[in-house]
Amino acid sequence: MNKLTVRDIEVRDKRVLVRVDFNVPLDEKTGAITDDSRIRATLPTIQYLIDQGARVILATHLGRPEGRVDSKLRVTVVAQRLSQLLGKQVGVTNNCIGAETEKSIETLRSGDVILLENLRFHSSEERDSPVFARALARFADLYVNDAFGTSHRSHTSIVRISEHLPAVAGLLLEKELNTLGGLLENPAHPFAALLGGAKVSDKVGMVENILTKVDCLLIGGGMAATFLKARGYEVGKSLIEEDRLETAANLMQKASDGGVHLLLPVDVVVADDIDAEAGVVTVQVENIGKTQRIADIGPQTTKAFYEELRRCRTIFWNGPMGVYEIPRFAEGTRAMAKLLAGSQAATILGGGSTAEIATNMGLADQMTFISTGGGASLRFLGGESLPGVEALHDREET
Ligand code: 3PG
Repeated sequence: MNKLTVRDIEVRDKRVLVRVDFNVPLDEKTGAITDDSRIRATLPTIQYLIDQGARVILATHLGRPEGRVDSKLRVTVVAQRLSQLLGKQVGVTNNCIGAETEKSIETLRSGDVILLENLRFHSSEERDSPVFARALARFADLYVNDAFGTSHRSHTSIVRISEHLPAVAGLLLEKELNTLGGLLENPAHPFAALLGGAKVSDKVGMVENILTKVDCLLIGGGMAATFLKARGYEVGKSLIEEDRLETAANLMQKASDGGVHLLLPVDVVVADDIDAEAGVVTVQVENIGKTQRIADIGPQTTKAFYEELRRCRTIFWNGPMGVYEIPRFAEGTRAMAKLLAGSQAATILGGGSTAEIATNMGLADQMTFISTGGGASLRFLGGESLPGVEALHDREET
């Protein structure tokens, strides 16, 4: 990574505004945090700044309140969790900008940490607003971006703010870029991408780019239906993206031209109704009935994927193999998660639901790296530059 990091600048006694991505999942009923991985992942940066005697001002969004104050999306619960993890009190402001906030920041001493209220309570955050950028920047001396998961957004606190403050990368951002960048630049071969999830459309750019790097590509999940259909199979009532059939066919052609071993499911678990108990069977892909929907990969597919993956030295995994939320359709996904957890290969997981699966299964610690970015990791692996990274100071500038 050719950007300056927080290690390259003097932070002692400075007011350091750190953009973090504490957009964590919350329990709908209780409002409690259901997965704190994103908070934990930023601890190295925050702890580093505390140890160096900086005055740490954290800024995040939480959910999509669309410019309105939503009491369910206040960051208090995040500050509480962070206080526990750091073993020190983290204050919270009532607003992310304004005179009162500035006053609270003035009281910070070296090593203190404060969390600003949800940035997205202001619609200007998502509009890349110069006025909002100035309002945020006025109470800081330095800016650190540690919000990899939001760095694909051209939002004020991600991009515009760097016009007002020296802007460097945090340690999480650095780690994400180095690890995911390593997948694109120098992965240990054989290198496999295991892809699932509902839609092909979300992942076309990433698949196109990664196809030029991998030795094998394994496709399961809802998106497999579109690939199977493009290959001429009947997929019953499975949700397919008609407008992506040609894309899927082109990707398969590219894989074949590039000598990439492509594996699609050979058998699948199907059901007439995803919600109902009845009518769940496993069939070969050539025998999917007119009323049936693909809900998971079948045991032969799991075995074939296993055989392929166990000879690989690098495995990138993004997306569940079936309707993971429903236990009887989670077998394929669970089998893949266990396989990766026990593998000697470098196992890198794209964020979002894949990260959640590993965490819920208690396997997160056994993976080499789990990205905190969903959309951001897809964009980055698709070869796109991230606005939040572009905005930071290049290393050669000093
Ligand atoms: C994410 O969860 O992917 C990031 O926090 C970005 O959130 P957003 O999709 O609401 O911009």
